[in-house]
Parts: sequence; C-alpha cells; structure tokens
Amino acid sequence: MKSKRTEIINAFKAADGKTISGEELGDQLGISRTMVCKYIKGLREDGYEIQSSPKKGYTLKSVPKLLYPEEILSGLNTTLFGKNIHYFDEAGSSNDIAKKLAPTAEEGTIVVVEQQTGGRGRLGRKWASPKGGIWFSIILKPKVALSAASRLTLTVGLSVTNTLISYGIDAKIKWPNDVLINGKKVSGILTEVEAEIDTIEFVVIGVGINANMSLKDIPEDLRENSTTIRDETGKSIDRVDFLQRLLHEMEQQYIRFNTQPFSEILNDIIVLSDTIGKDVKVTMPNRIVEGRVVGISKSGALLLKKEDGDVEEIIAGRCIY
Ligand code: BTN
Repeated sequence: MKSKRTEIINAFKAADGKTISGEELGDQLGISRTMVCKYIKGLREDGYEIQSSPKKGYTLKSVPKLLYPEEILSGLNTTLFGKNIHYFDEAGSSNDIAKKLAPTAEEGTIVVVEQQTGGRGRLGRKWASPKGGIWFSIILKPKVALSAASRLTLTVGLSVTNTLISYGIDAKIKWPNDVLINGKKVSGILTEVEAEIDTIEFVVIGVGINANMSLKDIPEDLRENSTTIRDETGKSIDRVDFLQRLLHEMEQQYIRFNTQPFSEILNDIIVLSDTIGKDVKVTMPNRIVEGRVVGISKSGALLLKKEDGDVEEIIAGRCIY
C-alpha cells in the first residue's frame, strides 16, 4: 500500500507544476487539511520545495534527489538488474525485505531503502544507515554451487570499486567484502544465501555505500575506520546516477561470472586489492591467524603466509590491518 506521503508526491507530480488546494489534496487522500499541512511540513523538511499561496494552495517547485524507482529506471542501462524496484523511505533492513520477496521475485529485483532502522552488517554487527547513503539489496539466482557465493561477494566488491573509480575516486578492495577510499571503509557488502543441500535457491546481496553523509551522522561506536564519499571528496554525488552506473557494472560482472572462469574476474580484483601484501590478523569464530597476504585463491579465499612459511587458505573471516 502506498503511504500518504507517496500519494501527496504523486498528486504533485500529476499536477505537473500546477497549484493544488489543500482541500483537493485532502479529498484525494481522504485526510483532513490539518493532516495535509503536517505532510507538507514533513516534505519540506526532507528537501521538497513547496510554495504555498494563500487561498490557492500548494505548488511543488523542486524535489530532492531521492532514489525513486521512476528516477532510477529512466536512463538505466541494464536488461535485468534493477528492472523491478521496491522502494522504501524507511525500513528495517533491505536484505530482510529482499529475502521475503526472493522466492517469487525475478532475478535482478532490487530493494532500495532511503534510511534503514535495522541495517545489518557481517558477523551480526549493526550497520548505520542514515539518509544520504545508498542502501540496497539485489536478488540473484545463480546456477552455481553454494561454495561460489563468496566469489559473488568479491565480484560485487569489484563492481562498487569500479563505479567509484568511474567518478575519479581512488577506491580499493579489502578482502572479503569492503571497499576503501584512502584506507577507510566506504562500502560494505552482506551476502545471504538460501540453499538446499548444495544448490543455491537465491542469494540476496546487500550493498551499503556511505555516500552523501558525513561520518558524524554515524553513531560513534559504528564509525570504526570508516568514511563517506562526501567526507573524502568534499562533494556530494548524484545518487541516482551512481546507482544506475553500479547496477550496469554489476550486471556486466555477473555476465562474466556466469560465462567465464572466475580467474578472469580475480585478475581485476587482485589489481585493485588493498589487502595483498599487507601484514594482517584474521579472526575466525574459533581462532586467530596472523601473517602476510600473498594472494587470493581461485575460490576467493585469502592466501596467508604465516611466520613458519606455510601458506594457509582462509575461506572466511574478519581481516584486520
Ligand atoms: C558489512 O560491511 O558488514 C556489510 C554491510 C552491508 C550493509 C548493507 S546496507 C543494505 C543491506 N541491508 C542491510 O541491512 N545490510 C546491507
């Protein structure tokens, strides 16, 4: 069901710059004029420029750059990714919504949320998701074994990195699921898989990008060596344009993922890796390993050379450096 807020926005868009009276809006939405005033106030607070003229009504002058499906779809250069969009002003977690939709959803369907109240990160951590970021999840149904899911996360990390680079931003990949600018985390990826024995039913890949916000907008305990595009570049980006470019890049990489050996994608990941060559500590549920990262294996695992000279393949863990 559409929210009253969306109905008011739609009414303004349908009016195409013409003035609508408070009474007319109230009648259309089935609410009082006092409630109309409240919604208008809220919209103004969110950046809508709405002029009010006594006795005449309200005129929409400009809209803020929100990730509205209509905006994303116009100019989206993909055949599958982002063709179906579920949009929310505010919701718990886009991954949770996507997981519910996934069994019947078409591959490439995305869930976009302007502000998440229950954003989740890896390893049960919270993910701060204030307004101004890009928080979305995509539903994929790849015909690969369960063990390939981590390669998909790396592939999406490559897509985010390439998209940032397309804006002239020097971004790097931190194994297994982070994207960094100047050594600080600007994006994280949360992959969740539904599988039967070894066959993937669906994968939900949640992507969080700290875009037009400042680190100050994130609670202190969640800042942990993070950054935002705006803090690093001093500028805001056009989030609609960014998401369009990212969906295009993700689709291209997904085609490669399904048609070429992973070593092809891996070569690109290695070039953009921030982790290779670093001395790191990897924490896993039952142990911690330290060593120098000497590569990433064809299965997407970290290759860690330990003090005794042995190279260990680490499939999953938290990499600290
Ligand atoms: C991490 O680095 O730990 C992963 C962060 C993933 C955050 C994104 S934001 C969109 C999607 N919805 C969530 O609740 N989480 C992911």
